[in-house]
Amino acid sequence: MLVDIATRRARANAAFRDLVGTPTEGRFDELITTVSGDHAQQAFLRDEIFTGTFDARRPLDVRTGPRHYRLYAHRDGGVIVIHARDMAELDRVTEELSEYARGLTENTVGLEMSQREIRRQYEELQEELRKRMMAQDLLHQSILNLNRIIHEMIATISTISILRDPYTGKHQQRVAHLARSIAEELELPLDQIQTIYVAGMIHDVGKLSIPTEILSKPGKISEVEFLLIQNHPQISYEILKLIEFPWPVATIALQHHEKLDGSGYPNGIRGDEILPETKIITVADTVEAISSHRPYRAGLGIESALEEILIHRGTKYDPAAVDTCARLFREKNFDFEKDETKDLFMA
Ligand SMILES: [Fe+2]
Repeated sequence: MLVDIATRRARANAAFRDLVGTPTEGRFDELITTVSGDHAQQAFLRDEIFTGTFDARRPLDVRTGPRHYRLYAHRDGGVIVIHARDMAELDRVTEELSEYARGLTENTVGLEMSQREIRRQYEELQEELRKRMMAQDLLHQSILNLNRIIHEMIATISTISILRDPYTGKHQQRVAHLARSIAEELELPLDQIQTIYVAGMIHDVGKLSIPTEILSKPGKISEVEFLLIQNHPQISYEILKLIEFPWPVATIALQHHEKLDGSGYPNGIRGDEILPETKIITVADTVEAISSHRPYRAGLGIESALEEILIHRGTKYDPAAVDTCARLFREKNFDFEKDETKDLFMA
């Protein structure tokens, strides 16, 4: 039973009501009449509760006839009345209530600890996340730096080539542009497009070993000079293999004069022995070489170049690369001079 001292109203729980037959709620004076028929006991109980004589820190045991009551000051200002048949039961109920209250307190403490622990783990996770994001930023920055260095290295090799032999230098840039466009048109993965572009830019670096008199010699060249020129893929390979590229650039440079039917050089390899990236470079290299001006002859034009690759489509040159190359020139107005490849490594 919970008694509100201010309003003198009392509320009993269902168990109390069932036991003594009182209504569950009403004025205390009425409820107490049903608790005890003894007027003196009722007056005593009433006085204990409403005159404030009983010590809030200690429960007050009251016996009215056959019934036992234990009164507790409630923290909200009311009084809790526990009823029992005898003192032993009263003690047992009190102990059970204390157990229950302790359990509630422990649970509350446990809950507070859990909340603190969750908070701590959350903060740890936040810190971990922050560290990982910083590490990711650094990694991203490193990749960008690495890409920039590779890009600058390629540009440097390309510049050296142009300074020494403008034909070869420009040829490489134009081959890189066309080969990249073919790769993009074929919708190859970005990594393969990058490989093809880089290989295109530096595939003839081995020509640095050939005397410029031979490279820029107008008219026919001797057999010895021709053999020297034919050695340039091997020299390109020897130079480029020294750089640890993330792509098979050196191998592509070595293979770029090989043909599907084995009629190329330096090793006469054929078919799938040739890397797919090389097959695209070879088509772009052939088209650029035939169509452009050379010291020993005037440029033969795009149509002659396309005719060459179309005649040998499937025998010397990769059919998909040939078809795509022809489509770029005939349907998509490909222009060697309009190279928009500068942001390829900054994506
Ligand atoms: Fe070459």
